[in-house]
Amino acid sequence: MKKIALLTMIGALCLTGCSIVKEEDKTAPALELTKTRVQVGVNSQVDYQSYIQKAIDEVDGDLISAVQYNEIDTSKTGQYEVQYTVKDESGNESKQTLLVDVVKYFQNGIFSPLGVKADTVDNPEDVTVLVNKLHQIPEGWTPDDLEPVIDNANQKLRKEANEAYTKFYNAAKAKGIDIYSISGYRTNATQTLYWNNQVKVYGEEYASQYSAYPGRSEHQLGLAIDVSYTTQGDRLSEKVADSAIGKFIISDAYKYGFTLRYKKDKVAITNYGYEPWHIRYVGIDLATKLHDQNLTLEEYYKQ
Ligand code: DAL
Ligand code: ZN
Repeated sequence: MKKIALLTMIGALCLTGCSIVKEEDKTAPALELTKTRVQVGVNSQVDYQSYIQKAIDEVDGDLISAVQYNEIDTSKTGQYEVQYTVKDESGNESKQTLLVDVVKYFQNGIFSPLGVKADTVDNPEDVTVLVNKLHQIPEGWTPDDLEPVIDNANQKLRKEANEAYTKFYNAAKAKGIDIYSISGYRTNATQTLYWNNQVKVYGEEYASQYSAYPGRSEHQLGLAIDVSYTTQGDRLSEKVADSAIGKFIISDAYKYGFTLRYKKDKVAITNYGYEPWHIRYVGIDLATKLHDQNLTLEEYYKQ
């Protein structure tokens, strides 16, 4: 009874002038983007809103429509930053940055590495490192444990990759499968020669599809090797896919720590054409994960 009387009294007092003190909002809105880095084509319209995952404030609620951002000039290739900002009613602010690579796309959905700024990886010696059009090897870095591969003294791999490759090679041979090592480790100078030559002979579109820009090739890591069923003629063509070694790569390479890096149904993700001949050593654990979940390294690292 006493309690009710007290509450009634407070209620009456409030009606006559007590203001209910609102707790101060000191927390900035949670602002999240769907990605931290994206590629868009030259002269394309950027759908800035589509990269906002959420903008929620504890007090003000959904603030997606209040998010502000700068626009970028997509008329030239290069890397640009879009800053996203959102403020709640109390003035607490959150910011996020989206890196946008403005790239030149070709008809086949692949973009040219020319004009694309790549991040430099800080772990080139790690067998699981991601190197691609957007992630490059530090300038001047070279592996220090290269060894010639089992069937071709001119082609080399790093020791751990080579030991795995030897097992893979012997397993193929034991099944009567022909396997020839065509191209293993490449120096930066060799990759430069390959890239320049492909651009000169076949053009930028073809080169972007089948050749890595110098500094961005897995062959420079000493962890990738191109293999074929023949040393003659059309040795690195889609015919490899139909050969016994092409099939053995699909079914068994992961057991030795290799992943088929540039798959037919993942061109838009790897940004290279289908290369049924290019295998990359990543270690058995990761190769098994990639195989079991049908992932590329890009998908695994969510890049
Ligand atoms: N052919 C692959 C992409 C390379 O050049 O590394
Ligand atoms: Zn290759």
